[in-house]
Amino acid sequence: MPIYLIGMMGSGKTTLGNKLSKILNMSFIDLDKEIEKIENTTINNLFSKKGEEYFRNLESKVLKNTEAKNAIVATGGGIILRKENRLFLKNHKTIFLYVPVEDLIKRINPDNRPLLKDGKDRLYKIWDMRKALYNEFKKIDLSNLNIQESLAKILYEIID
Ligand code: S3P
Repeated sequence: MPIYLIGMMGSGKTTLGNKLSKILNMSFIDLDKEIEKIENTTINNLFSKKGEEYFRNLESKVLKNTEAKNAIVATGGGIILRKENRLFLKNHKTIFLYVPVEDLIKRINPDNRPLLKDGKDRLYKIWDMRKALYNEFKKIDLSNLNIQESLAKILYEIID
């Protein structure tokens, strides 16, 4: 059965998800990478050439294609925007990786994030608009935790 990781850009979904998959002997799927493979381009290019709506349609489709996989699935930060995706995620094991925006801002590279092309401060606005949606899910607070501590906390939640 798949386990979905949701959370803001920079919250560690990909890094932690990859490590978790190895510990749990599951495969690892990164939805953004799947989309890049299908479209044979970068997320940045996709946003600028075909627009966000096109990306979101593809993102929802790719999400649903993971349903039968025994995988840890790292989603893109905006996966919770669509109600259909939230309903899907609620029918599966989904974990919200919470990291305060102040910390996200410190670690994020805006270059490959189309929504931050006008600056990283935009992240505050994005968090304000999305926090209620993320909070509909099981939240794991990763504030001030290093990678090992974060992994331990998530594993505890998964086996609980
Ligand atoms: C997005 C997050 C990105 C990527 C796209 C849109 C968002 O994924 O899907 O740039 O809307 O928050 P990461 O959360 O992996 O950076």
